[in-house]
Amino acid sequence: MQHKVTKAVFPVAGLGTRFLPATKSIPKEILTLVDRPLIQYAIDEAREAGITEFIFVTSRGKSALEDYFDRAPELEASLKAKNKTELLDIYDKTCMDSGAIAYVRQNQALGLGHAVWCARHLIGDEPFAVLLPDDVIAAEKPCLAQMIDAYADTGGNMVAAMEVPEAATSSYGILDVTASINPKLKVNGMVEKPEKGTAPSNLAAIGRYILSPQILKNLDGQQTGAGGEIQLTDAIAKEIETSDNVYGYRFQGQRFDCGTKAGFLQATVSFGLARADLRDELEDYIYDMMAMRQAAE
Ligand code: UTP
Repeated sequence: MQHKVTKAVFPVAGLGTRFLPATKSIPKEILTLVDRPLIQYAIDEAREAGITEFIFVTSRGKSALEDYFDRAPELEASLKAKNKTELLDIYDKTCMDSGAIAYVRQNQALGLGHAVWCARHLIGDEPFAVLLPDDVIAAEKPCLAQMIDAYADTGGNMVAAMEVPEAATSSYGILDVTASINPKLKVNGMVEKPEKGTAPSNLAAIGRYILSPQILKNLDGQQTGAGGEIQLTDAIAKEIETSDNVYGYRFQGQRFDCGTKAGFLQATVSFGLARADLRDELEDYIYDMMAMRQAAE
C-alpha cells in the first residue's frame, strides 16, 4: 500500500530568460494561455489528481503569482452586483482555500533540483509530486492523475516521459530504459542534457514527477551538474544507483513546451482552437493567413 500523494511542489523561481523582456517584471508562470495563466493549468491538473497541499517555490519579483490565488474583494463585489454569474464561476475556481498554498523562497536560481530541495521542510517524509508550470499537457485524463494511478502499482519514483527528436535530446533529461511494461518504463539511468550523440535513448523526462523523500536527501549535497545548475535529474539518477525504484511513465496527451516562444505560441493556437467560443474566428483567420502566404509564394 503506497502513501497517498497529497502534496505538490511548483517550482516558479526561475528567471525565465527565454521570455525577456516580458519576464523582466512579469513571472513567466503568469503568462496567459488564452485567458488563464500557465500556473493555473498546473494547479488545476494537480487538484484533479487529488493534491490538497500546494507548495510554491518562489523568488523576488513573483508576487503577482502569489496574489493570483487570493480572493479579490473589489472584483468579486462588482461581479456580484452586476449578476455576472458565469464570470463569478470562473473567478471562484481561481481562489484557493486559506492555507492550501504555502510559499517557500529560493533566494538564488541555482537550478530545478535546488528549487525542489527548498521545499524539503514542508514535504517532510512523504512522497510528493512536482509540476513544472511551463510544461502544459492537454489530455483527456490529466497527466498527473494518470501517473498517480500508475504509481499505486509501482511506488518509488515516477517521471513523465515522452519521445523527442534525436536532435533535441541535448535539451532534456534523458532516460536509459531497460524494460518496458507500457506505459510504465523501468529506468536504469538518467542523464541531464547529454552531449550530442551520447543520449542513451530519445525518451525525455518532462515536467511531471512523483518523488520519494529520499530524493530531497540526495539533493542535500548541493552538487552542480549540467549548465552549472543543481539538477533534479542527478538526484533521481543517484536514486537508481542505490535502489531499483525509478519508473518512466509514457503519458497520454499532448505536451507543449511553454518555456519556449514557439511552444507557447503553438499552445496558444491549440488551446484557442479547442475553445468553442473562439474556434470559428481563429480557424477563419488561420485559413486566410495560410492562403495569403501561399499566394505570395
Ligand atoms: P527553466 O529551466 O525553464 O528555467 O525552469 P527558467 O529560469 O524558468 O527559464 P529560462 O531557461 O531562463 O528561460 C523550469 C521550471 O523550474 C523553475 C522555473 O521557474 C520553471 O517553472 N526553476 C528553475 C526554479 O524554480 N528555480 C531555478 O533555479 C530554476
